[in-house]
Amino acid sequence: MANDIEKLLNEIKALRQENKKLNNAIKHKKFGLVWMDVPEAFEKESVNKIPLLEEKKDLQIKSKNKYANEPHILLEGDNFHSLTCLNYTHKNSIDIIYIDPPYNTGGDDFHYKDKRMLDKYPDGKVVDKDDPLRHSKWLSFMSKRLELSKNLLNKEGVIFISIGEDELANLKLLCNQIFKEKNFLGLVSRVQKRGSDLGDYFKPTVDYVLAYAKNKTNIAKFKIGVDESKFKKIEIEGPRKGEFYEDSKSLYQSSLRDLRPNQKYPIECPDGTFVLPPYKVFDEIHREGEGRWRWTKDTYLEKKDTILVFKKTKNSPLMDQNGKKSVWNIYTKRYLKDAQKKGNVPPNIFEEFLNSEATKELGELDLSFSYPKPTSLIKHLIKITQKKNNIKVLDFFAGSGTTGQAVLELNEMDQGSRQFILCTNNENNICRDVTLERMKRLYDPAKYLPTYKIKNQKNEKIKNEIKSLKEKLKISVVDEINEELKELKELKKSYPTKKAERLSKNLEEKYQLLLLKIRNLTEKIISKKEDAKEIQQHNKKIVAEISKLEKKIINLNKPLDFSLKYYAMKFAGSAISHITDDDKIAIAYNAGELVAISENIMFETFKNNYSQFFINSTQEKCLAIYFDEDLDMLDEFKENLRNQSTSIKKSIVYMFSWGAEDYSYLFDEFNLNIVVKPIPQPILEIYKKIYKAEK
Ligand SMILES: C[S@@+](CC[C@H](N)C(=O)[O-])C[C@H]1O[C@@H](n2cnc3c(N)ncnc32)[C@H](O)[C@@H]1O
Repeated sequence: MANDIEKLLNEIKALRQENKKLNNAIKHKKFGLVWMDVPEAFEKESVNKIPLLEEKKDLQIKSKNKYANEPHILLEGDNFHSLTCLNYTHKNSIDIIYIDPPYNTGGDDFHYKDKRMLDKYPDGKVVDKDDPLRHSKWLSFMSKRLELSKNLLNKEGVIFISIGEDELANLKLLCNQIFKEKNFLGLVSRVQKRGSDLGDYFKPTVDYVLAYAKNKTNIAKFKIGVDESKFKKIEIEGPRKGEFYEDSKSLYQSSLRDLRPNQKYPIECPDGTFVLPPYKVFDEIHREGEGRWRWTKDTYLEKKDTILVFKKTKNSPLMDQNGKKSVWNIYTKRYLKDAQKKGNVPPNIFEEFLNSEATKELGELDLSFSYPKPTSLIKHLIKITQKKNNIKVLDFFAGSGTTGQAVLELNEMDQGSRQFILCTNNENNICRDVTLERMKRLYDPAKYLPTYKIKNQKNEKIKNEIKSLKEKLKISVVDEINEELKELKELKKSYPTKKAERLSKNLEEKYQLLLLKIRNLTEKIISKKEDAKEIQQHNKKIVAEISKLEKKIINLNKPLDFSLKYYAMKFAGSAISHITDDDKIAIAYNAGELVAISENIMFETFKNNYSQFFINSTQEKCLAIYFDEDLDMLDEFKENLRNQSTSIKKSIVYMFSWGAEDYSYLFDEFNLNIVVKPIPQPILEIYKKIYKAEK
């Protein structure tokens, strides 16, 4: 006995040790993605310098409206640097990020500058399918950028990433690492094309959209709007009188099986017969046979008098109590107001945002680009988040600028003030020739769209042809007589039906006259019926011609009013690890645009050798930067600040400072609403963190 106990105690001890070992192993073995970090090379001028932004004023788009929203932003350059700048200007302030990075198909869509091979390939190299570091290069590239982008999302922010199957699995693991698995919102398959001749095992028809939240606990459920056109019927009685509803959803559902025995019970129809989902034996429970009602009996009893609709049909799936096919089918009503309140969670398959639509959209603007996304996809993603219409949307793989167009069109639709930030490199001059050009053509198609004039002339010609065809339409006399006849017949109803009554009221004579008129008109209709037929045929031909012509009208974009600022990367100072006093001066001198973007006050009014001034679009806010280390010119600077437009309600002043000194006291004499901040230290602090994280 003692031996047995000892043996058992030893076994327990050994198991405990094993358990400890396994627990330690779990702690030390990481689950996730492993890749070889392939160092990335950037353009020469950026090496050992600080990225800043330079406005290209000649490329800006300026709204014609005095009270326009603040400008949208287009950043030209490598998005690694754009994201670095945005980490200063937009930390925790972006609501939605949408990106469509290279899918790394092993074709020519992904180009990587491998730092180790810079001598051999100074401009980088297409990553081929058989490149042994194909996935490592892509992950090195994406991880840096996604890390930077995460800092930009606000606490309710979400990111959507379009991706193909080559990197889907890697991207999901990478995002689990960066955004955390608990913030995964979903993976959507998007049908990108219908027919395809490619593929050995499956025809490629979908790509994917991965969605993550910065913090899932902070965001609302996604919803899609209700298609109002389905709610055509109007309630004519009861407490919901006057409301729109639809009644096309059958109470019977063939896919519901035996798991729901209490959902198969007889329902009485208006003619007293009973109906059931298909059954084999009409017994107490009616379990056998396909399908069930969607409602339990309790729900049925509760709702049967309000939202159940019986419709007679020849092909009802239901059976009556005699085992015969019923003449009834049963539907449930759905009121528009309820549907709008409830909304629908969007499905994780998108079938209506095809690539062909994107090519067509760009074609309408006389532009072409490889693999653009359709604006409808991005509009849908923005809409389902249920976010307000003044959000900030970022796309740092902007390509042709689809996200920009989507935001502009949404703003146009609901008078919103969403602001977009697009970042793209200028490979083959796309940023200027495609992204910016697209925005210009949307802003003023008559001015910037080369073929606008010709297309417009063609449209005018077609519209004139339609107009003259419409003039040829004939009105049939029969229609006119019919109208008159209808009125007379209505009048007849107001006379007493009995002759004696009419005689007593002296109405008989008038009544007979009315009957005569009705008879005459009816005869006239009969005699003109042939003419009417001819006219009908004539009109039919013309209507067909008109609809043919209408199809020929070219869709021309209506001008959209907005402002846009164009910035290109510039580099100043030295590497963040070796910042000297001279660098600080150089950075402060060159950081005006960065500060302007971060304050959303972007219209420069002037710049001299010690200061720079900006106002916002409504001229209510002023931004003033004093970037000289010397305070000699401070009085003049203050004078300029005082002389700003009288409409200014708030001023923000940035004062050069070696550290982060508070210079507010220098502006005590101002009655204005004024905030004083240091420059360039806060910029350097953020950059330091980024570059440290990079190492
Ligand atoms: C697949 S396209 C995006 C297409 C876009 N969604 C559209 O609808 O037009 C990817 C774009 O990212 C750009 N790109 C690739 N690497 C980049 C980088 N490091 N910095 C900035 N842009 C980059 C490419 O030039 C390309 O235009």
